[in-house]
Amino acid sequence: MRQTRGVRKIHVIGIGAGDPDQLTLQAVKALRGTDVFFILDKGEVKADLTGLRRDMLDAHVPEGTYRVVEARDPERDRSAGGAAYSPAVGDWRSARADIYERLIAEELAEDETGAFLVWGDPSLYDSTLAILEEVLERGGVAFAYDVVPGISSVSALVARHRTGLNRVARPVQITTGRRLAEGFPEGVDDVVVMLDAHQAFLRYAGEGGEDIDIYWGAYIGTPDEILVSGPLAEAAPRIERLRAEARERKGWIMDTYLLRRRTPER
Ligand SMILES: C[S@@+](CC[C@H](N)C(=O)[O-])C[C@H]1O[C@@H](n2cnc3c(N)ncnc32)[C@H](O)[C@@H]1O
Repeated sequence: MRQTRGVRKIHVIGIGAGDPDQLTLQAVKALRGTDVFFILDKGEVKADLTGLRRDMLDAHVPEGTYRVVEARDPERDRSAGGAAYSPAVGDWRSARADIYERLIAEELAEDETGAFLVWGDPSLYDSTLAILEEVLERGGVAFAYDVVPGISSVSALVARHRTGLNRVARPVQITTGRRLAEGFPEGVDDVVVMLDAHQAFLRYAGEGGEDIDIYWGAYIGTPDEILVSGPLAEAAPRIERLRAEARERKGWIMDTYLLRRRTPER
């Protein structure tokens, strides 16, 4: 008898930045077509985020139609700065690829569909796609995958502040706190900052920063959401205080902000 073997399928699903109402209809369809959800837990601190993902499944997928497989994310060496930063990220990615490979090979049958639920949109500061490509390149397990876009924290941030990202015919740059700490990007007046553990905006809150406005948001789309906007010099101390209080209360924080230099229309 000729044996036909199925190919494992995987959805990489952007689930929005925290508000279950921001799942797209395409995401909900993909959730409903999934047999196994892989959830990588980053430990105690991020248990809330795992909980939010489970709430989304409860809200949108009939019980008993899927399995959830949780795994522990490898620790990342965050102490490595400067030139060592990229190799540290590379090692961490490979360690994650080992886990993904094992999960797909061992937890997903050949005719089943699995899914990774990605915070916000998979295109923005997320390594899931690169990791899946690494797993495919290794050749140990075969699968086909597709990507379902999600509402990123950047879209959610500017929507909550009722503003846009760019001004008429002008560029906008999305960068990290680490990069902003090195200097305000050249040639742009609208800068979105993510992954900022050290409040890099403070550097611009003093002299020379009088002409910068900030639109800041933490835990956007969740019940803990905090929003602050205004001239950076005035808003910075308030954000610093609110951020410290929230971090203390919850044990973790995720925040994103837009810095906008006031310039005459060109
Ligand atoms: C690893 S990146 C993932 C970004 C995600 N793929 C997206 O599209 O938003 C994590 C960063 O996203 C931002 N972020 C994600 N969710 C957020 C939220 N609900 N509120 C504020 N910032 C958020 C923070 O800057 C955080 O450091």
